[in-house]
Amino acid sequence: MILVTGGAGFIGSNFVLNWLAQSAEPVLNLDKLTYAGNLGNLAALKDDARHVFVRGDIGDGAVLTRLLNEHQPRAIVHFAAESHVDRSIHGPAEFIQTNVVGTFALLEATRAYWSALSENAQKAFRFLHVSTDEVYGSLGADDPAFSETTPYAPNSPYSASKASSDHLVRAYHHTYGLPVLTTNCSNNYGPRQFPEKLIPLMIVNALAGKPLPVYGDGQNVRDWLYVGDHCAAIRAVLEKGISGEVYNIGGNAEMKNLDVVHTLCNVLSTLRPGRDYASQITFVKDRPGHDRRYAINADKIRRDIGWQPVETFESGLTQTVRWYLDNESWLTNITSKAYQQWIDLQYARP
Ligand code: NAD
Ligand code: DAU
Repeated sequence: MILVTGGAGFIGSNFVLNWLAQSAEPVLNLDKLTYAGNLGNLAALKDDARHVFVRGDIGDGAVLTRLLNEHQPRAIVHFAAESHVDRSIHGPAEFIQTNVVGTFALLEATRAYWSALSENAQKAFRFLHVSTDEVYGSLGADDPAFSETTPYAPNSPYSASKASSDHLVRAYHHTYGLPVLTTNCSNNYGPRQFPEKLIPLMIVNALAGKPLPVYGDGQNVRDWLYVGDHCAAIRAVLEKGISGEVYNIGGNAEMKNLDVVHTLCNVLSTLRPGRDYASQITFVKDRPGHDRRYAINADKIRRDIGWQPVETFESGLTQTVRWYLDNESWLTNITSKAYQQWIDLQYARP
């Protein structure tokens, strides 16, 4: 079996669902169920014996040791993290705790478990660390896209915590020989994304007739990747990646935020006509330290692993909007009191 951390979150749950749709190999899913974790994401697996869910913290060494020894996974795919940049600006401590200290605890428990495996099992074992393109910092309009050799220059508490975890993973390979893989991916979107991130937040607000809050001048650029394509990339790297290597993953879909929001309004107008969604666009104060542009050079994963995205931004966005329109109860459950408190804090007038 494989151990997945953070498998009740956005990308992790999509990964677990995709994995079990394509493979008979069971998944042990360790998730703390923070505000971002949601067992409703995994409802389709309720009666599936191949999915074993454990509520727990990656920072809890005793739980990790017990789970590893009991279930003997052949690989770990590590998604668990605090993932929202704006939250890291309001409260960085949790990001250091989970992303840095938690990843360290996971690496330590993994090292002890892996050291005791047979030589063949040690060779076959993989620790795949899911990271972000934000560790590379911010690009100017004409700079070349991030490659695997771009120097790290994280700018937010979130990206600094992810960069720290990347360095720890690298060190465990270099020093102890732990067979690790690191992936640095661009902005994901798709079903089951918590509506604090740009695309689901805009969908929720658009449908509710609320303002669509664009930070600053709306000209910041992100590279967008459909979550199903990210999951396929991770599976491919797990299967074919070379131990110790880093793979950048991107969607070849650089877009300015304002263009993303306009495209979304157009998709909504087609699938749920009756409102002038674009008229709800509102410019709000900028994110402090807001990175201007991210772009991914994904040549290495295309060349060495043979992966490339299947969805275009338009096809992925249409599927995404359709999913949110078809899953209103998921949204109702998500948009709890705690969610409202976050929205009030983040979008309160200065
Ligand atoms: P998410 O916030 O939706 O989900 C994170 C999950 O981790 C949640 O289920 C949460 O309960 C769990 N978790 C948090 N702290 C934990 C802890 N201490 N122990 C166990 N579980 C814990 O995040 P996401 O968007 O799905 O991102 C998953 C991973 O992918 C993260 O590592 C993130 O840095 C990375 N990533 C995300 C994106 C993106 O666009 N969303 C892009 C590139 C990389
Ligand atoms: O690049 C990968 C990263 O993408 C991941 O590592 C992070 O986990 C993920 O959250 C995402 O980070 P971003 O900060 O790029 O995503 P977010 O959806 O928060 O914002 C996308 C862009 O939209 C960014 O330029 C800020 C802007 N934005 C965001 C929100 C929430 C707005 O203009 N208005 C908003 O209300």
